[in-house]
Amino acid sequence: MTEAPLLTILCLASYEKGVDFMRECHEHGCRVLLLTQSHLADSAFWPRDAIDHFFYMPDMYNRQDVVYGVSYLSRTETIDRIVALDDFDVEMAAALREHLRIPGMGDSTARYFRDKLAMRVKARDEGILVPEFMHVLNYDHLRGWMERVPPPWVLKPRSEASSVGIKKITESEQLWRTLDTLGDRQSFYVLEKYIDGDVYHVDSIVVDREVVFAETHRYAHPLLDVTHGGGIFCSSTLLRGSEDERALHDHNRHLLRSLGLVRGVSHTEFIKGRNGEFYFLETSARVGGAYIPEMVKAATGINLWREWARIEIGGRKQPYSVPVPRHDYGGILISLARQEHPDTSAYQDQEIVWRLDKHHHVGLVVGSPDPDRVQWLLAEYSRRIANDFYASQPAPQRPTA
Ligand SMILES: Nc1ncnc2c1ncn2[C@@H]1O[C@H](COP(=O)(O)OP(=O)(O)O)[C@@H](O)[C@H]1O
Ligand SMILES: [Mg+2]
Repeated sequence: MTEAPLLTILCLASYEKGVDFMRECHEHGCRVLLLTQSHLADSAFWPRDAIDHFFYMPDMYNRQDVVYGVSYLSRTETIDRIVALDDFDVEMAAALREHLRIPGMGDSTARYFRDKLAMRVKARDEGILVPEFMHVLNYDHLRGWMERVPPPWVLKPRSEASSVGIKKITESEQLWRTLDTLGDRQSFYVLEKYIDGDVYHVDSIVVDREVVFAETHRYAHPLLDVTHGGGIFCSSTLLRGSEDERALHDHNRHLLRSLGLVRGVSHTEFIKGRNGEFYFLETSARVGGAYIPEMVKAATGINLWREWARIEIGGRKQPYSVPVPRHDYGGILISLARQEHPDTSAYQDQEIVWRLDKHHHVGLVVGSPDPDRVQWLLAEYSRRIANDFYASQPAPQRPTA
């Protein structure tokens, strides 16, 4: 006699994400249902052996259609958990949980993890340092704000990702002209002070409102410069025991607790201003994009996708506990490549633990117990990749990872 499946998990993925998440659920005996976009139906990306049923929607952002579709599915399926594998699915997953009364993050908390204005207001109210900002709504307020806060500023959509739609603004006339072109879309934007400095990211696991695992990293170049100016995406683990690491852990704990993340994973970003202060940039209730989980794994042995799955399905037989991490260092480099299938076989250092396999891209993750070695390899590879493969292209209309 076969045992009844542990849980039925409905995964929402409007983008190709979450292979390890679905595999982990499957390996624990869960039924895995995947709801994705029709145009991804034939994608070779999906781990088909781990997915019990596929469901497709032509438009996964149409709330009414998705609610109808999943409610119809629920006539015959008992869905225990709904999980958003891509950032853009977070609100829909919350709406479905609210509608079907399924446990997990609901509408109001999801808002703090998707809407850059909502997360800013809440963080500021909780005493967390944020760049000065103003909702693009009331013109008198905007005028007053621009007189008070010296430029440059950034105008950014409240709920996009991968720097899509973000624009640096240097004077008020430029803002008014840009708002003219945005028309009725303008209230979906926030204007904020541009903070000159390095961008850091903290990737964490949260259980019962406690951060039980967190890794701190610094991007070699701010992402806005990479996506808009062209360049190589590069990040690495911060020096363990450093002041920056400690400060980021504190800010991250304070933030996630304030925003109310109960369980799951988070990718959170901060900018360190020239005054040495960390400003909260943005957070999310998902694993970081751009293959950041591969770097976390290189440094610690922890697979964020798999741990996230264990948290979602856990707590039944025994409480979840995070595996003991290694305390090595990781680094990642991703670049667009001129070649369709770039050949990285000349890159042979033993610290290379992962290679990206994607058309017109090149990507490497390195891991080592020695932070200096990681920095040396990243500098060396940045130079070599720029020579061997680098290609630039206009800023993306949609996230690439
Ligand atoms: N207030 C700011 N000051 C300076 N740079 C910013 C600011 N806001 C965003 N950026 C730049 O834009 C990038 C993307 O912004 P972010 O708010 O993280 O949105 P997303 O990553 O969702 O597109 C950041 O990594 C950073 O380089
Ligand atoms: Mg960001």
